[in-house]
Amino acid sequence: MENSRIWFDGKITDYDDVKVPLLTHSLQYGSGIFEGIRAYDAGGRAAVFRLDEHVDRFMRSARIYRMPLSSTRDEIRQGIIDVVRENNYKSCYIRPFAFFNDDRISLQTKGKKVSVAVVGVPYNNYFGDASNKGVTCKVAGWRRINSDILPIQAKASGNYLNSVAAIGEADAAGFDEAILLSRNGYIAEGPGENIFLVKDGKLATPGLESDILFGITRFSLIELAGKMGIEVTERQIHRDELYTCDEAFFCGTAAEVTPIVNVDGIPVGDGKPGQITDKIGKKFIGVVSGREKEFLHWLTFVK
Ligand SMILES: Cc1ncc(COP(=O)(O)O)c(C=O)c1O
Repeated sequence: MENSRIWFDGKITDYDDVKVPLLTHSLQYGSGIFEGIRAYDAGGRAAVFRLDEHVDRFMRSARIYRMPLSSTRDEIRQGIIDVVRENNYKSCYIRPFAFFNDDRISLQTKGKKVSVAVVGVPYNNYFGDASNKGVTCKVAGWRRINSDILPIQAKASGNYLNSVAAIGEADAAGFDEAILLSRNGYIAEGPGENIFLVKDGKLATPGLESDILFGITRFSLIELAGKMGIEVTERQIHRDELYTCDEAFFCGTAAEVTPIVNVDGIPVGDGKPGQITDKIGKKFIGVVSGREKEFLHWLTFVK
């Protein structure tokens, strides 16, 4: 991240110049909150995808954890745009992050100053080569955290230990990615992605009762699929449906649309990325790249 210009508590500064207390509550106890956003090259200009939805979710995460942010919603929104511009990025991944900027040791957060940082990084495919070829998945032994345990609609750092445990398990068993089940044993989502399956030309995706993070890409794809005349049902999905569906894919800001080609060693469909997945993936890339006039309102161009 050398030479990167970041936004920190309202000012553009150098990444290397920011000092974070080692004893911060957010590092010790996982109490940071964050977002993951992408900017895409849309005809030679950087465009941030669904900026307002991401900033709103960031603000909701802060509210859930009673974090008094040091900047307003609009300042953070502008900070995101400024980071893309300052670094001359045409496309990048953007990580807004709020943490307790205080080194007093205690679980209490009351009275601790909260800082907000926005960092942009050049970014390509989340799964590298497998992003196009499709990923192999293992249904994890770890269940997805649920809202009896933690507020799962907050994108809080600590929530992601659940994801880290599942990824570690899948990786040790030789798979690319994990799939977590909900507390009721239905399919929930990936460690950092929502999931869809395709059966008989129709899409199905788990809903809120399956302990998912309500992903912004997920909402976007449901709307796009509707426009493409593809039916989508939000419902509880049994694990074995992944073994018998025609196609499956992950979606998310980092993962975009990534085909799933194998679950627990069983090929999904014919074990290759499916046609509907491909069609939706292409539509999504068309939208984020500003080629779909109807969805230009999902993009914020960086001037
Ligand atoms: C657990 C989890 N589920 C789903 C998603 C996908 O959400 P989005 O499309 O808003 O990036 C993410 C990524 O933020 C995530 O971390």
